[in-house]
Amino acid sequence: MESDSKTAGCKIVLLGDSGVGKTCIISRYITGSFDENSATTNGASYCSKNVKYEKYNKNLLLDIWDTAGQEKYKALTKFFYKDAAVCILVFDITRKETFDNLKSYWYSQLRENSGPNIVLGVAGNKCDLYEDEQVKESEARQFAEQIGAIFKLTSAQNNTGINELFYDVGNKYLDPNFKPSKDDDIEEKKDDKKIVLDKNEVKKENKKAKKSFC
Ligand code: GTP
Repeated sequence: MESDSKTAGCKIVLLGDSGVGKTCIISRYITGSFDENSATTNGASYCSKNVKYEKYNKNLLLDIWDTAGQEKYKALTKFFYKDAAVCILVFDITRKETFDNLKSYWYSQLRENSGPNIVLGVAGNKCDLYEDEQVKESEARQFAEQIGAIFKLTSAQNNTGINELFYDVGNKYLDPNFKPSKDDDIEEKKDDKKIVLDKNEVKKENKKAKKSFC
């Protein structure tokens, strides 16, 4: 294969509840370090990394957006993933509610506001704390499979699964045969009661968030 000297841009957004470890995953990937006193994100921030994807012989300039998981920023967050190429949904394996919110809130918000060709990833973070696990790996994998996402167990603390996660989503983005899940597929899964997509609930939450955002 000929070498492709052009570097294409790829916007990646991380979403998920406050405290699941989005900022720590990004700083582990970009700087290789872990901050156990990581402060909560206000609004959003971003950083870039140039990565060579050997499989497709291409460079991608990853623009990685860290969003705030706090309730008061929820209305704002959607503006960051509207034009994203890749979205990584993050939950904390030791807090079941963060996985439930991923399915019922973050994923449905993403489907309502993102483009149809978005590449999805699901990260079960803090896997170093497996003794306190509240979400089974098999359950999380099943959800990822249903929505056509790449799944990884990650730990920003001990650097597990993070390089692999960004590598796999980048490869999928570059894959010329990538076919995203269609909304019809998602509706079918909703009928199976495997995924909860309650649009009314989402709208109510958005209204609440708009009121509290300052
Ligand atoms: P918001 O900015 O509020 O949305 O939170 P966030 O999702 O960005 O979480 P953040 O990265 O700030 O991490 C929250 C806390 O979890 C911090 O105390 C981190 O040190 C800790 N943390 C993050 N990743 C891991 C991990 O892999 N393992 C362990 N044990 N702790 C982690």
